[in-house]
Amino acid sequence: MKRIPKSLLKKLENRKEIGTFRTLKTKTALVDFSSNDYLGLARLDAISVRAKQILTDLGHSANGSTGSRLLTGHHPLFKKVEQQIATYHEAETALVFNSGYDANIGLFSALPQRNDLVFYDAFVHASIRDGLRLSRAKSYSFRHNDFEDLARKIEKLTSASSVWVVTEAVFSMDGDSPDWKSLAAICNRFEVHLIIDEAHATGVLTQLTEIYKQTTIENHLTARVVTFGKALGCHGAAVLGNASLRDYLINFAGSFIYTTALPPAALATIAAAYEKLQDKIGLESLHQNIDIFNRSVVNLDLKQHFILSQSAVHCCIAPGNEHVKMLSMQFEKSGFDVRPILSPTVAARKERLRFCLHAFNTENEIESALKLLATLL
Ligand SMILES: Cc1ncc(COP(=O)(O)O)c(C=O)c1O
Repeated sequence: MKRIPKSLLKKLENRKEIGTFRTLKTKTALVDFSSNDYLGLARLDAISVRAKQILTDLGHSANGSTGSRLLTGHHPLFKKVEQQIATYHEAETALVFNSGYDANIGLFSALPQRNDLVFYDAFVHASIRDGLRLSRAKSYSFRHNDFEDLARKIEKLTSASSVWVVTEAVFSMDGDSPDWKSLAAICNRFEVHLIIDEAHATGVLTQLTEIYKQTTIENHLTARVVTFGKALGCHGAAVLGNASLRDYLINFAGSFIYTTALPPAALATIAAAYEKLQDKIGLESLHQNIDIFNRSVVNLDLKQHFILSQSAVHCCIAPGNEHVKMLSMQFEKSGFDVRPILSPTVAARKERLRFCLHAFNTENEIESALKLLATLL
């Protein structure tokens, strides 16, 4: 086959020169402080056993879904699973997409219209930005979790038909959350349509629906995105909202319409994982580990390096791509998988080590990793 054009090879060379060249790494047997398997469900045999049972009980399965949802791919399990997801999250409806990336591409490219304005937190995930790039609406970022900045920007640009505000429940690269009361105040003041990506909160921040109700955020929430590749330990995503949102996406979201549906085995696994979520498997251990981690950070005098987080994602700012890569390598040598997050994924000088905590991490693993960090910094 013909190689890619020279200009693209040059771009690759440039990445190597500045130390940001990406390569694929096979999963290792190191202590896991890196995966998104926060509750340990990806390694739970009971889920695959239950998923097989669900398929057997249903009596008809297939290796693949055989088509898109609008053609032959709409397996009977979709109805059951979407109902189960909607009930768990106390939403009117759920619509399954093949991944969180697909859900965001479909949602953001289809929903905001030509004369609308979209305001998104500067730290939202790449899938949201990519979706917005496909939209005809104008979009503007506001400073991370800064709702005064958001208010100023909304006030300045008043002519839109609809105003959309986009944020995340737990930010993937920082582990923090919006201040819900301040967000609710903005929603009430400007009558916005709110979209919240809950990827890193799904199954972890179990009080989220309650928070939405208590703060009145619920009244402005047009869509929620939940994903299954993180705490649920499997694959896929869903958009939650009312029936008209679901109908709209089925009719207009390209990444829903023009792709082969998830296979029955994936749906059965999602159903089995939600059953475990309902049973709160791993939840207490995860939250205990988050507390242990935060306590150790304070005890080891590391607090000034970390972004405050009550989620499973904890970031230690260690400026410089080479510096943070070196730190990650030291962790690897000591048996820990702690990944560096480099610029341009995060801003320059904000490069960081990202510790993902899990239900299955032990107290000893957490304390040893943080002691190592204290010696390295
Ligand atoms: C906030 C956020 N949204 C969406 C996604 C994409 O989800 P998926 O991995 O299911 O495509 C991610 C993945 O990292 C994410 O962090």
